[in-house]
Amino acid sequence: MPANGSLILPGDKSISHRSVMLAALSSQRSKIANISNGEDVRSTISCLIDCGIKIDFSKENLFVTGGTFEQPASDLDCGNSGTTMRLLIGLLAGQGINANFIGDKSLSNRPMDRIIEPLKRMGLNIKSNNLMPPIRISKSDLKGIDYNIPIPSAQVKSSILLAALGANSETKITEKVLSRDHSEIMFKNIDVNIISKDRSIKVSPCDKFSPLNIHIPADPSTAAFFIGAAVLMPGSKLRVINLLLNDTRIGFLKALEKMGCSFNYYNVHEESGEKVGDIEVIHHKLSGININSSDIPSIIDELPMLALIATQAEGVTKVSGAEELRVKESDRINAICKNLKEVGSDIVEKSDGFIINGATQLKSGNIDTFNDHRIAMTFHIASIVSGEKIILNNTDCVDISFPDFYKTLKSVIR
Ligand code: S3P
Repeated sequence: MPANGSLILPGDKSISHRSVMLAALSSQRSKIANISNGEDVRSTISCLIDCGIKIDFSKENLFVTGGTFEQPASDLDCGNSGTTMRLLIGLLAGQGINANFIGDKSLSNRPMDRIIEPLKRMGLNIKSNNLMPPIRISKSDLKGIDYNIPIPSAQVKSSILLAALGANSETKITEKVLSRDHSEIMFKNIDVNIISKDRSIKVSPCDKFSPLNIHIPADPSTAAFFIGAAVLMPGSKLRVINLLLNDTRIGFLKALEKMGCSFNYYNVHEESGEKVGDIEVIHHKLSGININSSDIPSIIDELPMLALIATQAEGVTKVSGAEELRVKESDRINAICKNLKEVGSDIVEKSDGFIINGATQLKSGNIDTFNDHRIAMTFHIASIVSGEKIILNNTDCVDISFPDFYKTLKSVIR
């Protein structure tokens, strides 16, 4: 069954979180179109409402009026969303708010030392449960720091940048590998004084912000499932409209090109500082590739889908330097390896990645999604492209990023 037609997908999840948080800083009304309708972004919205930010929805847009944050009356529930918790801690620290952050079972087991350490250096009074949630922050005088981020993480970078807005001096951050740079781009959109060059950023404290007026481009991490399905199924011709094509987010497309794909791009242009365009995808025969630590940040969320694709490529695909995958919504290295083995793939688990020997014919099997949206979407695509009886548990977990996933997929598989 080929994938055909045109797809308009919800806005990028990373930009969606940042849009509401940055709009909350401005006392003027911001307008946000095509925001992600997943549960993660809803968590960010409801936490900000709990902090006194005025947020209204119309059919097409979200309107945000902020400027002053209030002390939340109860715990801020970040649900399953690491981005909500890590970025909101930075944002509220910079605004001098006392707050207690909680999350679901998965989030309660995710590492927070990566933000606790730099925020403590800035002078934040922050308490945790053994460096994991719940996290409590109290109003503190923050100072600017000069910080080298030890792991490539846009969440850590953004948390520090947001806190730095409320510091008493400039903050400098340096990364080893450039991670997604939406915060830097959007800081410029709200008139924060920020300079980024290569892998270093300098940001000045700020207390007056312009409102946002943004149309969020389609999420490349969601698009990856549809693009991957089209590449794997003969006879496919699928177009994704207004897709985010930021260089720090196109590792999946670059990897597919190395494996033997070619794409047609249309209408490529810049919108609110981000590169966007339409992409047309057809079926291709693929060969294995190597992906290493310098590639990882730009493909981190797409690695489950890339692993599935690699099982259908001729030869060996080796992914290394991806140990961060073990601390996502689930241990994704384990989830990928266990489930791909279950459906007949030749995959070897490594501490920092995996080695896949393709191509193999997938067979029927029972998949444990570990309640992880990206694992569920990957193996639902596996069931469609193989035509085998591949049964998943907890399929509703796709709601975290894309509640309409199954419906949208049905609309293009014909
Ligand atoms: C995100 C950054 C990445 C990514 C996550 C979203 C963001 O996490 O995996 O889905 O919006 O900043 P890390 O910063 O932990 O790499």
